[in-house]
Amino acid sequence: MIKKGIILAGGTGSRMSPLTKAVNKQLLPIYDKPLIFYPLSVLMLAKIKDILIIVNKGQLEQYKRILPNGKNLGIKITFAEQDKPRGLPDAFVVGEKFINKSNVALILGDNFFYGESFTKKLNECCKLKSGAKVLLYKVSNPESYGVAKINSNNKILSIKEKPKKYFSDLAITGLYFFDKKVVEYSKRLKPSKRGEIEITDLLNKYRLNGNLKANFIGRGGAWLDTGTIDDFYKTSAFVSSIENRQGLKIACLEEISLNNKWINKSNILNAIKFYGNCNYSNYLKKLIS
Ligand code: G1P
Repeated sequence: MIKKGIILAGGTGSRMSPLTKAVNKQLLPIYDKPLIFYPLSVLMLAKIKDILIIVNKGQLEQYKRILPNGKNLGIKITFAEQDKPRGLPDAFVVGEKFINKSNVALILGDNFFYGESFTKKLNECCKLKSGAKVLLYKVSNPESYGVAKINSNNKILSIKEKPKKYFSDLAITGLYFFDKKVVEYSKRLKPSKRGEIEITDLLNKYRLNGNLKANFIGRGGAWLDTGTIDDFYKTSAFVSSIENRQGLKIACLEEISLNNKWINKSNILNAIKFYGNCNYSNYLKKLIS
């Protein structure tokens, strides 16, 4: 079982400058909430209550203002600072003490997931005992991602990071499930040509040991990009469409905690006080009325 999760929320967000000069990318809005709420909601839907958020050095205070601690959500949030981006698997080196020889999930702070039965899929993935698991999604621009080639039995045959030449259109999404070996494997990785350790090299270690499994997000699911300003607008439009059509919010953290029975009405009242007079608070009021 996986009971711990890491959100990697560092990065310079250079493609979104000047927006990201003073504020970390994961604190910018996707429609009506900061981007970080979405990956955090994914871990909470996976019933993960022990969460480490890795942020850039000097940006801790920004995050603590919006996520002061997990108590009011019925979860435990710990923060760690990364002095410079050294690649995704560095999350497991920075997070070694937090992981403390457990299995762990990693979600990238800028990844957006949505879809019916997605929670069921998450819960299945969290049953992982040994090895590693990735979620694959068909995209029209595989050259922008880590990509996996599979055979007819859904076995992963090969993995490449941002392949220039087409070899599969199955992107490896930024949500990964690992056993406890992940810390040792990550420590042994050598930086790639771009000077960072790569998640695809880490996944390849598991694959070569016959321990990497694939799960899929199908046509009815959404894995959206937040890499550029245009992507932010498109993902915001998606959230706005669904939320306004249904009158239900995507990634309302307190709602997920309430549904999981991690918190009660008094926590929701605290949250309303904390957020103040806003649309999000009005939604929270409805949850307890
Ligand atoms: C990273 C990973 C890539 C993965 C992607 C998912 O790329 O290196 O393998 O498919 O996240 O979001 P980045 O977006 O950091 O370039």
